[in-house]
Amino acid sequence: MNIVTEIKEFQSLRKQLKNKTIGFIPTMGNLHDGHFSLCKRAHIENEATIVSIFINPTQFNQASDFEHYPRTLEQDIAALTSQNVDFLFCPNGQAMYPDQYEVQVTETHLSLIMEGACRPGHFNGMLTVVLKLLNLVQPTRAYFGEKDYQQLLLVKKMVNALFVPVEIIACETIRAEDGLALSSRNSRLSEEQRKKAASFSHFLRSSKTVQEAVSQLEKIDFKIDYITEEWQRRLAAIWIGNVRLIDNIPITCEKNAYE
Ligand code: PAJ
Repeated sequence: MNIVTEIKEFQSLRKQLKNKTIGFIPTMGNLHDGHFSLCKRAHIENEATIVSIFINPTQFNQASDFEHYPRTLEQDIAALTSQNVDFLFCPNGQAMYPDQYEVQVTETHLSLIMEGACRPGHFNGMLTVVLKLLNLVQPTRAYFGEKDYQQLLLVKKMVNALFVPVEIIACETIRAEDGLALSSRNSRLSEEQRKKAASFSHFLRSSKTVQEAVSQLEKIDFKIDYITEEWQRRLAAIWIGNVRLIDNIPITCEKNAYE
C-alpha cells in the first residue's frame, strides 16, 4: 500500500493508474469493520482501490467534537495493509483548503433537516470535502455507508447536480453483535454507556411507532435529537452522555414483520 500525503504527488501517482477502474472510500480514519466492508466491496468491483483519511475540520459544527475525534493513523495504516488497498491518501488540512474554505458546496433543501438542522453547516463541509476528494481521486466508483443515510443521499444528489463522473455505491450498515451500528464515536463510550447503547438500535427496530421509540429511549435516559421516518427508513440521532450517535433502519420489511 502506497501512503501519500502530498496532493501533487498523489495526482502524479493517480495519472499512472490511467484507465484502470478505481474504487474510492473516503473516511475520517479510526477505521473499523464498517469501513473495511466498503474496502472489500471496492476491491471486488474495481482494478484499484484508494482510501482517504482526512478529519475534515469544516464538517464539525462543534470545536470540541473535532478536538476529541479519535486520531489513530498508525493503527489505521496497519489495519489497511490487509485490506487490498493500493493507495492511502491522507492530506493535511492546509493542503485541502488553499482557499481557506471560501469556496463551498451548499445544498439548500435536504441539508437543512435532521442532521443538518441539529448540526448547522455540517453538510456544507461534508459536500465540499467530498467534491474536492472526488476531483483529486477521479474514481470510477465511490463507496458510502447507509449508516450515514442523509450523507449518502446528499452525495448522490451533488454528483447528479454537478455532473461528477462517478458512480456512488451504497453499502449496508455493519453492526456489532448486539446491534449497535459500528462508528468511530463508539470508542468514546464508557463500558456502561456502551452496554446501554445496544438499546438504541433495539428500540429503533422493535418499536411499532416513532412515538413508542421516543418514549422507550427516553426511559433509559437517552437525549433524543430526532427520530423520524423518511425515505422508507426510520432515522434517529441520540446522545448518550456527551457522545452523539446516529442510526437508521429500513421500515418496509420491519412493517411486514409486525403484520
Ligand atoms: P467516516 O465517518 O469515517 O465514514 C466513512 C464511510 O464509512 C462513510 O461512507 C460511512 O457511512 C461509512 N461507515 C461508517 N460506519 C459504517 C458502518 N457501521 N457500516 C457501513 N458503513 C459505515 O462519513 C465520513 O467519514 C465523512 O463524512 C466523509 C464522507 C469521509 C467526508 O469527510
